[in-house]
Amino acid sequence: MKTELVRVDPARVEDSLDAIRRGGEILKKGGLVAFPTETVYGLGGDALNPEASKKIYAAKGRPSDNPLIVHIADLDHLAPIVKRVPEAAKKLAQAYWPGPLTMIFEKTDLVPYETSGGLATVAVRMPVHPVAAALIEAAGGYIAAPSANTSGRPSPTLAQHVIEDLDGKIDMIIDGGQVDIGLESTIVDFTEEVPVILRPGYINRQMLEEVLGEVKIDPGILDANANKGIRPKAPGMRYRHYAPRCDLTVVEGRQEAVVAKINELSKKARKAGRKVGVIAADETRQLYRADDIRDIGSRTEDETIARHLFEILRDFDADGVEIAFSESFDTPRMGMAIMNRLLKAAGHQVIHV
Ligand code: TXA
Ligand code: MG
Repeated sequence: MKTELVRVDPARVEDSLDAIRRGGEILKKGGLVAFPTETVYGLGGDALNPEASKKIYAAKGRPSDNPLIVHIADLDHLAPIVKRVPEAAKKLAQAYWPGPLTMIFEKTDLVPYETSGGLATVAVRMPVHPVAAALIEAAGGYIAAPSANTSGRPSPTLAQHVIEDLDGKIDMIIDGGQVDIGLESTIVDFTEEVPVILRPGYINRQMLEEVLGEVKIDPGILDANANKGIRPKAPGMRYRHYAPRCDLTVVEGRQEAVVAKINELSKKARKAGRKVGVIAADETRQLYRADDIRDIGSRTEDETIARHLFEILRDFDADGVEIAFSESFDTPRMGMAIMNRLLKAAGHQVIHV
């Protein structure tokens, strides 16, 4: 299949209405269109069309029991696809929709089991990105969209990443430039008594608790034993994920000790002829000796760190890095989301110094 690539400036969507309309037509006919959102690029198909959902799983190579998120652009489109909207969810929607927040509800029959991965629940998100919103409208209101990467690889934050993984497998890619947040949306489950965070993101625990009061965190989120006793409730969080091809280890502890440890391990690996990458912060990048040192941003700006994580993991692959070390980034605002992705990418290989 030939994949059409179109460029849309998110600040001037009105100049690209033709392309958006064409994307909408492709989706209505059951085709697949990748598009930018504020979190990561999504791989869109008509959420109410089971055949489109099957195509999404095939294009990504994703297990079909891993449910998709349904994206809407209009709050009135929520009621037809969910059995009931708890008061707490209404409040959260009011506070953070449109935005990087996904909520889980009981689904109605309108949502096919192909989209919900066989579950009786459905994940719903209303993105704030203007290209995403316009495309959802053009497609008739409901787009199922997982991240637009091959299953298991880091999520795409640039159209180039989507091209790498999906060129030739989908109908269209809309290039809207680099995404803003760089980590997938926060997922909150409302099917239990107390709301539970199934996946941490930009909307952090404190922001949720400001609106809801008590919020729980799924114990599988930061736990290395996610595949053993403690299984995360979001099926996608169980799989090995976000992983670069290289062998990645997170080193945590006091800054000087971390730098010394990474340099020691890097030296050893390079002596053995391996290409070594390091994920450093602005504050420490000068202190490392390795083949490919990436500055992820300043520790004082964790939004910058979040935005660059997946890109760096992909860059390591492109650069042929074989062994990589990362500092730990347990920052106050987005630390839980950053560390959730980083630890998964590292297969939970952590050295404490
Ligand atoms: O930011 C995002 O959410 C991006 C953009 C494209 O919107 N999408 C995204 O989709 O990250 P995906 O498919 O890569 O991740 C969806 C996650 C998976 O871990 C999946 O298991 C979980 O949401 N999920 C979906 N429906 C669910 C449900 N009904 N119950 C529990 N978890 C669910
Ligand atoms: Mg994903």
